[in-house]
Amino acid sequence: MKKIGLLYGPVGGSTERVAKQIHEIIGADKCDILKVRDSKKEDLSRYDNIIFGCSTIGAETWQADQVKSGWFTFIHELGKADLKGKKIAIFGLGDQIRYPDHFVDAMGEIYEILIGRGVDTVGKVDPAGYQFTDSKALSGGRFVGLPIDEEFEADQTESRIREWLREILPQFS
Ligand SMILES: Cc1cc2nc3c(=O)[nH]c(=O)nc-3n(C[C@H](O)[C@H](O)[C@H](O)COP(=O)(O)O)c2cc1C
Repeated sequence: MKKIGLLYGPVGGSTERVAKQIHEIIGADKCDILKVRDSKKEDLSRYDNIIFGCSTIGAETWQADQVKSGWFTFIHELGKADLKGKKIAIFGLGDQIRYPDHFVDAMGEIYEILIGRGVDTVGKVDPAGYQFTDSKALSGGRFVGLPIDEEFEADQTESRIREWLREILPQFS
């Protein structure tokens, strides 16, 4: 398997903590970890296997003044990058109790950018087991990536990550 690029944002909160946990489980020899706010499309060209991490802070995820997120700028880089043939998995932090109608929406917004670009998206997740009413991150009845709820189901985070990695790692090239 070629080295994985794990790119995440925002920094300083749950997304960063979970990104570091995923990086540690995969192993630094197999995975590089980068902040989206410091990354350009050229960084993506170094990896055929990519994991993106995000959180949903309503519209703020995509606002220019939310420098912590980094996704406002990076989503444009993603739009310009050559992604053909890449395998991409997404994980997203969210809160299914306080935001049941918009649970992990940001994963869906990232996924939309990848559609029609020759990307093989891996790591879709069955929504059974989550409590929510709606999400932009649903496609064909499945989440387009791994939802993590550190607010209300932190006790499930590690097992969710491990199960997801067991599924996606063999699919990486
Ligand atoms: C202002 C605000 C808006 C939020 N909006 C959403 C939302 O629309 N959907 C959701 O699933 N979670 C939402 N959340 C919950 C966060 O995504 C969650 O707390 C996440 O763990 C934060 O990750 P971070 O610390 O890396 O930013 C929101 C949180 C805040 C503070």
